[in-house]
Amino acid sequence: MEVAQSVPMSLSRVAAVLLAGGKGERLGGNTPKQFLELAGRPLYHHSLEVFERCAAIASVVLVVPALPFDLNCGPFPKVCAVVKGGETRQGSVAQGLLGLPEDAEIVLVHDAARPLLSAGLVDSLLAGLNSDCSGTIPGVPLEDAIKKASEEGFVETELDRQQVWRVQTPQAFFRRPLEESLRQSMAAGREAPDCSQMLTQSGYRVRIVPGDPLNLKVTRPADLLLAELILKDRASTEGVVQ
Ligand code: CTP
Ligand code: MG
Repeated sequence: MEVAQSVPMSLSRVAAVLLAGGKGERLGGNTPKQFLELAGRPLYHHSLEVFERCAAIASVVLVVPALPFDLNCGPFPKVCAVVKGGETRQGSVAQGLLGLPEDAEIVLVHDAARPLLSAGLVDSLLAGLNSDCSGTIPGVPLEDAIKKASEEGFVETELDRQQVWRVQTPQAFFRRPLEESLRQSMAAGREAPDCSQMLTQSGYRVRIVPGDPLNLKVTRPADLLLAELILKDRASTEGVVQ
């Protein structure tokens, strides 16, 4: 199933799909988490700002819960389409892919709920995307001991934490295997919680590159506080450097 890619990276067009179409139920409240204010701006703007800074990214498709959507596009000229998401994350990925420019050959899929991504992480995902794999994803090693337990809560097996990873977004893929594995996942009635699962289930090879432990996903209220603290710390460090 693995297909060698013949497009040299330097000639490939990279587009990002930013998923901001969820309801944010675990965080609670009336406003979906991606539209809450974080460090002075809407949470999803943090990702758009990083995409604007990444020279490799040519265009961005923004996936939102409903249309019309009032995006002040001024600061984000790379946003080429705003589309309505689906009922599930996978459904929103499908909608986002429909908004891609025709010439996009590499697609970066990112959760707007991860506002702390860095341009460096995007660069290392793209650098790792070679002819020997169809996608690259950021993985962070686990520091706790990992156990497999029975439904009753009794430890059954010790897992080797060297072999398991916490996986984040953005995730980078060649467009054709991404679209093909999405088609297969939908046809089989599967719902993949992240895109790399669709690819591996379809037999494509996905490489893990070093992720960033601070690239957290805002899921519950405490994550918002943490994200705010990390951004404050970054701002003060940048202030010292300048
Ligand atoms: N997402 C989406 N469309 C959906 C579901 C999720 O675009 N139908 C997006 C979310 O906006 C988020 C990312 O996928 O940026 C990761 O999903 P998650 O953290 O689970 O966000 P929500 O589904 O919004 O939150 P919850 O599961 O707590 O309702
Ligand atoms: Mg969800």
